[in-house]
Amino acid sequence: MKKKILVTRNLLPENEERIKKLFDVKLNKQEKVYTSEEILELSKDCDGILCIGGNKFDADIFSKISSTVKIIASYSVGYNNIDIDAASKKGIVVTNTPEVLTDSTADIAILLLLGASRRAYEARKFAEEQKWIWATDFLLGKQMSGSNLGILGMGRIGRAIAERARGFGMKIHYHNRTKLSADLEQGATYHDNIKSLFNKSDFLSINCPATKDTAKIVNEETINYLPNGAVVSNTARGDVVDDEAMIKALKNGKIFALGLDVYNGEPKIHPDYLKLQNLFLLPHLGSATLKTRIAMGNRSIDNLENFFQNKRPKDQLN
Ligand code: DGY
Repeated sequence: MKKKILVTRNLLPENEERIKKLFDVKLNKQEKVYTSEEILELSKDCDGILCIGGNKFDADIFSKISSTVKIIASYSVGYNNIDIDAASKKGIVVTNTPEVLTDSTADIAILLLLGASRRAYEARKFAEEQKWIWATDFLLGKQMSGSNLGILGMGRIGRAIAERARGFGMKIHYHNRTKLSADLEQGATYHDNIKSLFNKSDFLSINCPATKDTAKIVNEETINYLPNGAVVSNTARGDVVDDEAMIKALKNGKIFALGLDVYNGEPKIHPDYLKLQNLFLLPHLGSATLKTRIAMGNRSIDNLENFFQNKRPKDQLN
């Protein structure tokens, strides 16, 4: 008999077709993100769940979840929405989808750095109004070539950003818990602490996972380590940034411009961000290409398939 899987959001047709062949699926055909209560109710008779990053699986939900559920396969690389310890205590396997969204997310990080530093938001408004006059000092931005790019979190995505930024003539600096091998560093300069990295970062790309240790790691104190007029982008998670401190720095010019793809409490955005001009905002598009989304779907289905064939899923996190 086919195993029963709750799929919490719509899948692309290519993925839906495949998962239907392999499993007895409960699909979500509505334009909505299920609440925890709905997930608990709908998964009562399920063997597994395919979820997205927007579904919260905290200790409370794990204390109530049906004992039939044996695996949660997340359609995301980030898994800060899932309490892995609580899942392990309940004997539930958790998987994610690394690697397949590295390139698309790195592209978006470059788009944010360019969009912020070259004032794309203000520029678009001038273009729409058709009242601008070309002038030597019109909408001057910051140039990436010859600048230092600091990368906070040099995992796969951080390294893919570094590779692209080298093509823009940037010098790469990074901070990670551990120094990378020369092979992975590709000439980037390692900083064993945030102060030292931020001091060097004319541009800063935030790419570390959201954990207890990285919550609000970009805050008033650390922002002040940056050179005046730095450009910052965040393609990791909103939790890493203290929004109040960031807004203050954007207002007083400490930060020249900010590019964001992720937010605290998204889809809500701190209202003060929306009053500022020196911001380039995207609605969490890091992985949003057809190729990547199909690959993410397949990766999560592979994890479910392997699990139910009694093989260790490639992306098992616990
Ligand atoms: C992820 O996979 O963690 C992304 O943020 C979702 O696009």
